[in-house]
Amino acid sequence: MSTAKDFGRVAVLMGGWSAEREISLQSGEAVLQALRRQQVDAQRIDVDHEVAAALRAMQADRAFIALHGRGGEDGVIQGLLEAMDIPYTGTGVLGSAIAMDKLRSKQIWRAQGLPTPDHMVLKYAQDCHEAVQQLGLPLIVKPVMEGSSIGMTKVEAAADMEAAWQAAVACGGVVIAEKWIDGEEYTAAILQDRVLPMIRLRTPHAFYDFDAKYRARDTQYLCPCGLDADREAVLGELMRQAFELLSASGWGRVDFMLDGAGQPWLIEVNTVPGMTDHSLVPMAAKQAGMDFDQLVMQILETSHVAA
Ligand SMILES: Nc1ncnc2c1ncn2[C@@H]1O[C@H](COP(=O)(O)OP(=O)(O)O)[C@@H](O)[C@H]1O
Ligand SMILES: [Mg+2]
Repeated sequence: MSTAKDFGRVAVLMGGWSAEREISLQSGEAVLQALRRQQVDAQRIDVDHEVAAALRAMQADRAFIALHGRGGEDGVIQGLLEAMDIPYTGTGVLGSAIAMDKLRSKQIWRAQGLPTPDHMVLKYAQDCHEAVQQLGLPLIVKPVMEGSSIGMTKVEAAADMEAAWQAAVACGGVVIAEKWIDGEEYTAAILQDRVLPMIRLRTPHAFYDFDAKYRARDTQYLCPCGLDADREAVLGELMRQAFELLSASGWGRVDFMLDGAGQPWLIEVNTVPGMTDHSLVPMAAKQAGMDFDQLVMQILETSHVAA
């Protein structure tokens, strides 16, 4: 355990220019207040393209990254901080870039024999037909580079494929179709070398979409998640492996599903998950006996000085 003073001046990086800007401002503000409550010399930076100048003007000794999505969670800001020799929380450049890309993540998992739903890249409109043939219905269409369920559609009828593809294409980047997993959704928070108690998510929506994540009042979060302890420990080991295989480190969250037969399916890794006081990692930490302030300090401890 380090003391508040050991961390020096901490820049809390929030906002940014991704589609998840608003959520990031909430995460960043919650983190900033938690650090200040614990006497850390923390200051906010609302990240734009002048972030390097802002870091320099502030004379930041380290950075707490509370940015979600492109530009902040994908290796871009991590690379800038490395170049400026400023230690930062969480995953490095490589792991951030891989985990941000759902297609690359799946390719790595599959190559190592870890379970992730079958998928197909949808490059042209014609691929929509092929995907329905290969993967069957329902399936889910997603842009590989977004978060917060933006641009995603569950497709139940072949006739709806092309519209779903168009919606994902509009987000930019590569689009995939993924086999739909019928079952229960879970998430495993990872903190330093621990897997925190898992959370089970239940929503009356077709899936955990943007509205279910941030607006709906009928989304249920179960923590403890209801699995027996041995089962959770085995799954936790798989989640830790899935996290490390993508070169993720420090802290984060692995989303997965359990189908009707109890088979786990890896969905994605978030290297900078939400950090508002009602977010999932804080919920899991609480179940592990850690309050929000303690969690924030433990994440700050992952900001190792670069070797
Ligand atoms: N293969 C799938 N089968 C069933 N539901 C899925 C599948 N992939 C994603 N989902 C649902 O869509 C949500 C968002 O997908 P995810 O890949 O986690 O993207 P995001 O980065 O937006 O969180 C998940 O939380 C889950 O509810
Ligand atoms: Mg997700």
